[in-house]
Amino acid sequence: MLIRPFVLFLGYLAVCRAGASFLSRRNSTGLTDEVTWDSHSLFIRGQRTFILSAEIHPWRLPGNPDLWADLFQKVKSNGFNTVSFYVNWALHYPEPSTNDGQGDFQEGTYRDIQQFIDEAKNAVTVKRPGPYINGETTGGGFPGWVGNIAGDLRTNNPNYTQAWTPYLNIISKIIAKNQITQGGPIILVQAENEFSAGSTKSPYMQMVIDTYRANGIVVPIFHNDQHAGQAGGDSYPQGSSRWAQVQAIYYSAHEAVAPNNPLCLAEFGGGFLLQWGSITPRGGTGYEKYSGDLTNATYENVFYKENYAQTATILNIYMLFGGTNWGQTAAPVSYTSYDYGGGINENRVANSKMNEMRQQGLFLRVSRDLLGSTLIANGTNYTSNSLIHTAELRNLGTGAGFYVTRHDDSTSLALTTTQLTVQTSQGKLAIPRTGTITFNGRESKIIVTDYIFGASKTHLLYSTAEIFTWTTIDNTDYIILYAPQGQTGETGFLSASRPTVDTSDAPAVSSSFSGGVLTLNYGLDGTHFVRLNFSGRSVVVVLLTKAIANNWHAPLISGNGDFGNFFSIGTNETVLVSGPYVLRSAELVGSTLALVGDLNGNTPVEFVAPSGISALTWNGVSVMVTRSSRGSFTGTLQASSPQIALPTLQNWKVIGSLPEIDPDFDDSSFTDADLTKTNVCTQVLYSQQYGFYGGNLIFRGRFNGTGRETGVNLAVQYGFAGGYSAFLNGVFLGSSQGNSTVSLSTDTWIFPAGALRSGKENVLVVIQDHMGITETNSNGGKEPRGIRGYSLTGINTTFTSWKLQGNEGGAAKAPDTFRGYLNEGGLYAERIGAHLPGFPDDSWSTGSPLDGVSGAGINFYRTTFDLKIPDGIDFPVRLSITPSDISSNFRAQIYLNGWQVGKYINNLGPQTLFVLPAGILRRNSTNTLALSLWSLDKNGGSIAGLQLVSDGTFSTSLQFEDYASPDYQNQQALRPEPVDVDPM
Ligand SMILES: *[C@@H]1O[C@H](CO)[C@@H](O)[C@H](O)[C@H]1NC(C)=O
Ligand SMILES: *[C@@H]1O[C@H](CO)[C@@H](O)[C@H](O)[C@H]1NC(C)=O
Repeated sequence: MLIRPFVLFLGYLAVCRAGASFLSRRNSTGLTDEVTWDSHSLFIRGQRTFILSAEIHPWRLPGNPDLWADLFQKVKSNGFNTVSFYVNWALHYPEPSTNDGQGDFQEGTYRDIQQFIDEAKNAVTVKRPGPYINGETTGGGFPGWVGNIAGDLRTNNPNYTQAWTPYLNIISKIIAKNQITQGGPIILVQAENEFSAGSTKSPYMQMVIDTYRANGIVVPIFHNDQHAGQAGGDSYPQGSSRWAQVQAIYYSAHEAVAPNNPLCLAEFGGGFLLQWGSITPRGGTGYEKYSGDLTNATYENVFYKENYAQTATILNIYMLFGGTNWGQTAAPVSYTSYDYGGGINENRVANSKMNEMRQQGLFLRVSRDLLGSTLIANGTNYTSNSLIHTAELRNLGTGAGFYVTRHDDSTSLALTTTQLTVQTSQGKLAIPRTGTITFNGRESKIIVTDYIFGASKTHLLYSTAEIFTWTTIDNTDYIILYAPQGQTGETGFLSASRPTVDTSDAPAVSSSFSGGVLTLNYGLDGTHFVRLNFSGRSVVVVLLTKAIANNWHAPLISGNGDFGNFFSIGTNETVLVSGPYVLRSAELVGSTLALVGDLNGNTPVEFVAPSGISALTWNGVSVMVTRSSRGSFTGTLQASSPQIALPTLQNWKVIGSLPEIDPDFDDSSFTDADLTKTNVCTQVLYSQQYGFYGGNLIFRGRFNGTGRETGVNLAVQYGFAGGYSAFLNGVFLGSSQGNSTVSLSTDTWIFPAGALRSGKENVLVVIQDHMGITETNSNGGKEPRGIRGYSLTGINTTFTSWKLQGNEGGAAKAPDTFRGYLNEGGLYAERIGAHLPGFPDDSWSTGSPLDGVSGAGINFYRTTFDLKIPDGIDFPVRLSITPSDISSNFRAQIYLNGWQVGKYINNLGPQTLFVLPAGILRRNSTNTLALSLWSLDKNGGSIAGLQLVSDGTFSTSLQFEDYASPDYQNQQALRPEPVDVDPM
């Protein structure tokens, strides 16, 4: 059950309180007027608002929750005003009775939802608490125990209702107290997720909604219906191997289903989901190809503008920061990296997709007339060249027009020039009147008509160059227009009399005045300011190439309002700044513009600020600036670029980590797998039934050998891309594996000569990988993990008993209550805590994962390394695995300072680069790196190479603190006494 709230980050300043007559034209929940809507858009406190939202999941940035703020600031500074997040029931309720039914929301951990909301408050939010979330997380957010319930899940079955009600009551109360009505940032809440109606499902949905309302949720509740013709659902339109045609389907589906509500795209592809083994060759996170090609900034440009053309005013980008499926949090359909190709990569680096989002977001922020617009018509007959498709939107109140234009074949790479026929207050015009508009392949433009901007209500009749944003500084209206380098633009302003035009900074711009229209004609090349004066009203037109526009920001001056100053457009609240890679905040302090942010190298800076401002500080340090001839200030922001050495990984220690295959191994502490029936399936070796919900599982079955047993039949279900190895009395029988579509293996293993003990007890051991609990459908979470079928061959001997071990303590009594029960699995080394910092490994042998395992089995390795990262530097680090020959079947798990941060499967990939998350990674003290290596092959296996790599050196205002998580000594008493096991 996922909960998805939307949290607004933005500052708020009451500009105009809507009067009652205005309110009466809007719909509300009847419980609050703070969030209302009409058929076009939401209104936040009476202001029409485009909700441009970034999906970010709290748990996918493992470790220090203080770093959530880093993501939110990067999101907010790049055009977004909202964050949408899931709450993952499974993490908060390892068992129904966790914390007396109050759930686990431990402060200072990834489970601290209140801190997540607090950090987001400077930015705006939506919440999606479930109960079901999907989201490629184990069980789709259902705790493992929910899979044991008799009856269909996600229906009104009373057993299921009883399971989710306590959780939903608790999380609803947390949401309720953080609503905008309580001074918090939550503006919308989603009920359930990717859910469609049905006779037992609709009553369930109503119960979820009723539970929200009963706990004080008053903001609108929406849902995400995966089958509503995508009227309000999810869309991942890009092809997986080649560029796709845009899908012009949302508008009509929405009109058919919910014409009185704004068009909301609850999930629109910010990238792409990849599965185990889906990319060859193996390398990187696997997502590089998508963010670099299919879902890059050009994709955002074409596909997101198509959404605006179809009148969407609530757009949630899934994922903006995907993050990491650490520990056992992944569902079988995804691997460790959940980077998704989003605008902020898994290691928190904002990439070039964020520049495109800033251009779109800043335009949407200042273009309220677009939000109230109606789709008039669309087609290829607006342009002189029929290769171009145009959607005409018009605000029927103000007359402003928005022509969203692109190649009709949105995959086209053609260079096409055309004229566009527009309706204006001055009649029908073919624009530009001189020259043409150019479309360079995959490029979409929003061409405006009768667009009023600035405090002095400057009337832009039309512009073929796009509007980036506008603001008023002192008494001057600034408008930034842009187009790709080398294209031409034409912009017309209405004016009763001929304005003065100063092109001293823009000598190539020509102007003419006739019929009450001032027309500027220009080519885009560099940065140029054109100064206009309309009878005392001063306007500056800033002309930029698109590449240069990538460097510009229009930060809202930090204010004291509830939500900063988001709603204060049109006043002196915005400055214009070109330069920094990340601009977190801007403040006016006396005569100084104080900027805070990050640099990815020495960076030229230029800014326009109110007249009293003549000095600049960057992260508190003063920067020399000079006044440029165009009236702005310029200077250089100096990045500090220390040489940071990444140590070689060496001095590895090793132990064996599969002592359980020894027939004499003492398994008295293991769980008796003796249930004779379950609610789920007829077989009994089903790990969920015994409280183990993820990680490696070890089964030990005993039988009395007669001498006539010849082998064993096994059916093992592990989830996509899982696998297992079987041993009889310590002798390897064989291994079997799945892939991205195979989740179950059925095999017959013949006992090798000498393996069977006649007249004695025999022990069959199965070690299996658990790839996470299955998502979706009414029985999501119910697919077993374990041995679904077993029988001996040769003679019908029965097993006398089975024992099972998963993670130490299972979900209920996991010793590591800080990292949580999904951090570890059932490997011997994990159970004794050998992955934790401080574990005594003095008596271990020397041995490296590069030497590896000599046969089928598991070794566990530890080493330490030191970093020295100065303050003021963000230095994201990853662990790079050099893949071995693809025919070598081995699996490795990576642990940094006790956190399981990666699972590597050599024979599947694709991932070879694993984030060592900031916060968990100690910057100035010793790090403990551990690694399990399980060879499924009888000849063993080894890792070809292991090294630390950096994603760059960024000067930053962020303050990092090494995240204090428990070490071995904190948990020693709760774990088995360690015994050294000889490595293989
Ligand atoms: C409010 O919603 C109802 C039900 O969908 C609809 O009939 C009505 O027209 C809406 N009113 C406005 C002002 O949008
Ligand atoms: C609820 O659970 C009980 C106990 O497992 C079971 O006997 C009963 O049939 C279930 N009810 C429904 C409606 O599934």
